[in-house]
Amino acid sequence: MKKIVVFTGAGVSADSGIATFRDSDGLWANYRIEDVCTPEALEFNRSTVIEFYNKRRRELLEKRVNPAHTAIASLERAYEVEVITQNIDDLHERAGSTRITHLHGELSKLRSMRDAERIYPIAGWGEAVKAVEQGEDVDRYASVWQEAVEAKDEHGDLLRPHVVFFGESVPNYDAACRIASTADIFIVCGTSLAVYPAAALVFSIRKDIPVYLVDLARPDLSRIDNPVHFIQKRAAEGLPEL
Ligand code: APR
Repeated sequence: MKKIVVFTGAGVSADSGIATFRDSDGLWANYRIEDVCTPEALEFNRSTVIEFYNKRRRELLEKRVNPAHTAIASLERAYEVEVITQNIDDLHERAGSTRITHLHGELSKLRSMRDAERIYPIAGWGEAVKAVEQGEDVDRYASVWQEAVEAKDEHGDLLRPHVVFFGESVPNYDAACRIASTADIFIVCGTSLAVYPAAALVFSIRKDIPVYLVDLARPDLSRIDNPVHFIQKRAAEGLPEL
């Protein structure tokens, strides 16, 4: 069975109404990275960082998978599929993809400030997702993670978002490179390839395999020797087409 590796960024969730980072209306047009996405911000401005991610969790609860996520999940009917995503949302999971590597962490998880290996799914997150999908009011669930992130774990450690901040290492990067190197087909969708080491993933693939790119704009692929098939469309349209 052929193996497809799908490498996604914020553009794959844009059609679900989740802001990207570097588009004109993107997250970094409204927040300074140094205020909300660095270890220093967390240390010296904890409440601002916690509030920023609580706001993104609340927004995420109201979002739904879009045809791009569904198309990627449906590939599993005919191929061995691995998803490597830079996104911290859980929409690939909700769409039914079963093998997902998050390079930059997950909004639905917290971790110990002292030991990065101690990772905790937010209790009640899955139930909150289902309840809101069935029309229940989001605000009923906001306390689910507000209490969680202020709690301490069983070792008495303070918790933090399980998200890779700028300047922090990307623990799953080597595993992601190994996965990419086994691809027979490589699909890149919705990433500006602006952030390293994630963007360097494209150099881990075999030189003889086809690359399919679905994006509204054409990121810089000049250093890729592989043949690139470019579909310049919204992910929600281009991926089902692909
Ligand atoms: N369909 C397809 N592509 C889209 C769509 C859409 N509807 N909307 C935007 N795009 C494309 C843009 O053209 C761009 O190539 O998605 C990409 C978004 O790029 P970024 O905003 O830079 O997002 P991403 O590449 O995922 O950022 C990487 O940067 O800030 C960090 O940790 C953060 O994981 C993030 C990383």
